[in-house]
Amino acid sequence: MYRVGIITASDKGFRGERADKSAQTIREITAGLGWEVVSYRLVPDEPEQIKNALIAMADEEKLDLILTTGGTGLGPRDHTPEATKAVIDKEVPGIAEVMRAESMKKTPRAMLSRAVAGVRGQTLIINLPGSVRAVRECLEAVLPALPHGLEILTGRGGECGSGH
Ligand code: MTE
Repeated sequence: MYRVGIITASDKGFRGERADKSAQTIREITAGLGWEVVSYRLVPDEPEQIKNALIAMADEEKLDLILTTGGTGLGPRDHTPEATKAVIDKEVPGIAEVMRAESMKKTPRAMLSRAVAGVRGQTLIINLPGSVRAVRECLEAVLPALPHGLEILTGRGGECGSGH
């Protein structure tokens, strides 16, 4: 079905000091939809490395969906939203709005995630926060609209008026 890439931005993960359970959670959730994770990169919280990973997955690997996890908060090393904004052609604000709105029902800390979503070419990029819990809550909040969004983006049929 859809080809998915995961980018984990984490200094600790990159240094091998933390197991990447968030990427594993993304794999489990996307597998449940029949989507295939075909690419995975673990990068430090360095804007250039995050940008390069996004560009490679979108332009060279031509993935349908890239899910990033981590680096969306207020810490001095949190750069994922800026790296994402630097490489997208169009922002898709509704995705990040829904993630924060739904997450606020679980924790007020949800407002601290600066996650963005957008399109580069025919690839949809979505930032998720870093924790396993946040990954699950945010991804589940936006999943209902993703198949239709990807259908339209990748030109694989789908009419906006049908099948709500
Ligand atoms: N969103 C949901 N759904 N659940 C959470 O537990 N944690 C928040 C927020 N978003 C959280 C959430 C917290 S504590 C932070 S600091 C921000 O995401 C940013 O996380 P990040 O820096 O790991 O990306």
